[in-house]
Amino acid sequence: MTTLTPTPTHEAVRGHYAERARNSSSCCGSKSNALYDEQLISEIPTDISNFTLGCGDPITLAALRPGETVLDLGSGGGLDCFLAARQVGAQGRVIGVDMTPEMLARARANAQRVNATNVEFREGYLENMPVEDSSVDVVISNCVINLSPDKPQVFREMCRALKPGGRVAVSDIVTNGPLPELVQKSMEAWGACVAGALDVKDYERGLREAGFTDVRVQPKDDPSKLLSALPVGVPFSATITARKA
Ligand SMILES: C[S@@+](CC[C@H](N)C(=O)[O-])C[C@H]1O[C@@H](n2cnc3c(N)ncnc32)[C@H](O)[C@@H]1O
Repeated sequence: MTTLTPTPTHEAVRGHYAERARNSSSCCGSKSNALYDEQLISEIPTDISNFTLGCGDPITLAALRPGETVLDLGSGGGLDCFLAARQVGAQGRVIGVDMTPEMLARARANAQRVNATNVEFREGYLENMPVEDSSVDVVISNCVINLSPDKPQVFREMCRALKPGGRVAVSDIVTNGPLPELVQKSMEAWGACVAGALDVKDYERGLREAGFTDVRVQPKDDPSKLLSALPVGVPFSATITARKA
């Protein structure tokens, strides 16, 4: 596997999330209780379930089946991995990939606490994942792809890792039209999952160009809402689904 030289964006994002891992604050003021059905997280200790840096619920979106292999991009403190692990059961497995050592340490400690023996956390970049070709059934991710400085490469890596027919179930921040230039240039806004947000059309095109079909990017809170009805240049949380051709 080739190595990846981290860009200044990777370094800035890693610094931001190392700090988050060291102190327990959640992202965007959100608590997991607002993102997930109460029943889904009821068996997870609240300090783990409340440490969410996500913007949606990719687990419900993924409709996981027992025995499946799941790959979580940017696994953070591990909450989505632990929820996925319960659904795929002992015959299934979950791989979380993250580039921030402090986050991985936190996730591994959490895995021991919840006895998640079918979950493994690997250090690596989304743009060059430490995952074998055609080895996973489902790719999930929660508020991470927007942080990448090279999203087309992340989409190619997702396609490479999935088995033929495998599926994508992602929560992410996207935009309808360009963000204000001042926001686009702010590294702080990038780390906060705003400045790196892709336009919906670019997101869809990027996934199709990487080899996905049945691509869908929809507003999380109102999937039926038309793009033309959304404010221009304002980031919003979306659900993203696709299938490897
Ligand atoms: C907003 S947090 C989301 C964490 C988790 N998915 C959740 O819902 O709580 C972003 C995470 O992705 C990781 N990350 C960001 N960019 C990455 C990249 N290019 N490669 C690998 N990990 C990345 C960060 O280290 C951080 O843990």
